Amino acid sequence: MHEFSGNGNITLIIQDGFHMDQSSPFSLSGKIFVVAGASSGIGLAICHSIVKAGGKVIGLARREERLQAMVNELGKENASYIKADLSKDEDITHVVDQIPEVNGYVHATGIIKLSPLKFLKRETLEEIMNVNYFSMVLTLAEMTKKKKIKKQAYSSIVLISSINALVGSKSNLMYAGSKGAMSSASRVIANELAGQKIRVNTIKPAMVDTDLASDVQDLLSKETIDKDKESYPFGYGTPEDVANTTVFLLSDASKWITGQSFILDGGWLNLV
Ligand SMILES: NC(=O)c1ccc[n+]([C@@H]2O[C@H](COP(=O)([O-])OP(=O)(O)OC[C@H]3O[C@@H](n4cnc5c(N)ncnc54)[C@H](OP(=O)(O)O)[C@@H]3O)[C@@H](O)[C@H]2O)c1
Repeated sequence: MHEFSGNGNITLIIQDGFHMDQSSPFSLSGKIFVVAGASSGIGLAICHSIVKAGGKVIGLARREERLQAMVNELGKENASYIKADLSKDEDITHVVDQIPEVNGYVHATGIIKLSPLKFLKRETLEEIMNVNYFSMVLTLAEMTKKKKIKKQAYSSIVLISSINALVGSKSNLMYAGSKGAMSSASRVIANELAGQKIRVNTIKPAMVDTDLASDVQDLLSKETIDKDKESYPFGYGTPEDVANTTVFLLSDASKWITGQSFILDGGWLNLV
């Protein structure tokens, strides 16, 4: 904590770090969330933001050393993990059997592969649908069947879809289709769970600097990437930009919002 004195008579006390009033509707104090895709990028940033807002996380992903690092950073009292490949039914069942009743779920697992329509292969298409879409639907099906999401508590499910559900970038059919499916499914799930006061919302980010974005950028020339960056009035997003909106949607501050989709794009879609 340090003090700042301006030119006038006012002295501001500036707190180092982030301390949220537990009575604030934006606080996640006393709440626990499952975050799928917690080992890197957006999912990892979401784990950090949940804990900063006073909540606790159970992270899911395949890379155990990364999940362990997340727990080390956030502290055992705030975070834990379950190693899981969510494209496998047996791992989904294992995860859902292990977890306690929680206040919500965030789906941030995802992979991307590009292919023009004429070179598309069933195997790759199935792989992408499996990780990006089936894993989300089947995990939520299992969680609701086994009553692992608190009812009547404005519990919240946040699904990380993509701006690609809305735009037709060439060669991106597989990824775009998986994200479009997620967006459509989220409205149905929101309707089915509304009676239990469980909310469901989707976030559609444009380009965010993560490993997944690098996988795409590795296939493009520097000129193409520079030109793309210039088309974002506020630049590419950071994982924290997505995490902050996610925390809002998980919190009671958004308790009147369900079945909605939020575009996060630094002003990009408005200009294309
Ligand atoms: N970056 C962007 O520009 C952008 C834009 C819009 C939407 N998104 C979406 O945001 C989400 C997070 O992506 P990111 O950009 O943060 O990329 P990332 O850093 O590559 O994160 C992807 C996460 O998914 C997990 N994952 C992948 N396959 C899995 C599987 N079979 N089982 C369990 N977990 C699996 C990965 O963990 P393990 O490898 O350890 O399993 C990792 O934690 C994705 O849904 C992505 O589509 C990203």
